[in-house]
Parts: sequence; C-alpha cells; structure tokens
Amino acid sequence: MTIQLDKVVPWGRNFNEYVSMFDLTSAEKNLTILDCAAGPSSFNYEMTLQGYNVISCDPIYQFNADEIYHRIQEVYQNIIDQVKENYDTFVWQNFQSPENLGKVRIAGMEKFLQYFPNGVEQKRYLTAELPKLPFEDNKFDLALCSHFLFLYSDQFSVEFHLESILEMCRVAKEVRIFPLLKLSGEISPLVMPIIEKLSTKGYRAEIREIDYEFQKGGNQMIRISCGMLGKHPLAISY
Ligand SMILES: C[S@@+](CC[C@H](N)C(=O)[O-])C[C@H]1O[C@@H](n2cnc3c(N)ncnc32)[C@H](O)[C@@H]1O
Repeated sequence: MTIQLDKVVPWGRNFNEYVSMFDLTSAEKNLTILDCAAGPSSFNYEMTLQGYNVISCDPIYQFNADEIYHRIQEVYQNIIDQVKENYDTFVWQNFQSPENLGKVRIAGMEKFLQYFPNGVEQKRYLTAELPKLPFEDNKFDLALCSHFLFLYSDQFSVEFHLESILEMCRVAKEVRIFPLLKLSGEISPLVMPIIEKLSTKGYRAEIREIDYEFQKGGNQMIRISCGMLGKHPLAISY
C-alpha cells in the first residue's frame, strides 16, 4: 500500500454525525456495516460499545495509534485555522465555533485511538485502499463512505470513483456516500456522471436530503441499491 502518513490529514467524525449524515434508523444500526475510508472516526468504537457490528477500513490503519496520534497533532492547528479563514462557508449550528469543532473532533479521535489497538486485534479495523476491498461478495448489508469519495473529486478521477463504488456494491447490498460536495464547497461534478454510469449498469441511485449540514449546501447523500432489487434498469430517482 503506497500511502505516506505525512500526506494524510486524519480527521474523524463521531457516531451522532454518522447517524445524521447517513440517515441511519435504529433498525439499520443492526445491519452489518462496512465503513470505508473510516480514518480516525469514532463511529466504529461507539457502535461497538452499543453492541452493533461495524468493520472499518482505511489505508492509515497500517500505522499504529501513536503514529496516527502524532499526525493528528501535526495537522490539527492548520485545519482549525483553515476553518476560521472560511468561517462563512460552514453552518454554525451543531458547533458553536472553530475551537468547539476542534474540541469535539479531538474527543472523538481520542476515543478512536484508545480503542484502535483492540479493534485491530478483533479485526474491526482493516488496512484497505479503494478501489479494492478484501472482502467476499455480499459480506455486508450496508457500506458507508463519509468525506472521501466526491469530496476529493479534484484529486480522484471519475473512473476511480466508479470503480470504488462498484467495489463497495460488490461487498454490500447498499452503499451510502456523504457529502456530494468537493472540499471547495461546490457540488462535485462527478455526481451526475456517476449516477448515469451506475444506471447503465442497472444500479438504482437516489440522492436524499438529510438532516445534517456543516459545509454549506452539504445536506445530501447518495444511496445506491446494489442487491438484486437495486438491479432494476431505469429505476433511478434523484
Ligand atoms: C477526511 S477522512 C474521513 C474519515 C471518516 N470517514 C470521517 O468522515 O470522519 C478521509 C480518509 O480517507 C482515507 N483514504 C485516502 N485514500 C483512500 C483510499 N484510496 N481508500 C480508502 N480510504 C482512503 C484517508 O486515509 C482518510 O482517513
């Protein structure tokens, strides 16, 4: 795996944010869930504490907790400074200020770091890099991807996105991706081409408004039905 830690910006969201971003119902928490590009998010830890089943994968899991912690320390102030510079491009509803955002993020990432060594032993954290996943077909009910696909549309091609989503569809019955915005805050130009390409392959994709918005305009996720029911030509809605 080719990733270098000094090129990665580890930054992780928590359980409540995942529930809102992916519109997870109480019943859906019981599904077997794959969190792709999960990074130092505390979602897996908080779900596991409640007795649910999540496997997370990310290339940074090849590093140990100390190494990830030091990289978080290195990038932390820069991220908060950038948020301050771009203050008006965020919705300040769930977080009171950039400093408060930082505190919430650090609290979540500390939970992740504490649990990470155990989680690796229990095979809940696996080193893996899209567009390839080390799982058998249909292993999961639901695959999630937060703040990676579409967000880095300037860095990753439409082919990479399609290959990654088809791979997530291979291992899960349904895929949900959030947000549909790029880092700059504009809607990703890859969203519509990807929906069309998925449609020609017979997958049903739906854009759904959700009750979460931190990047202004970032209140939509995409849901892709990958199981037999999803393979219905022209059954696309958005
Ligand atoms: C901004 S973080 C998002 C973390 C988490 N999903 C969240 O929303 O809190 C993006 C993550 O994508 C991971 N990443 C980078 N390249 C990847 C790839 N090819 N496949 C899977 N994950 C990748 C990075 O290591 C990083 O942890």
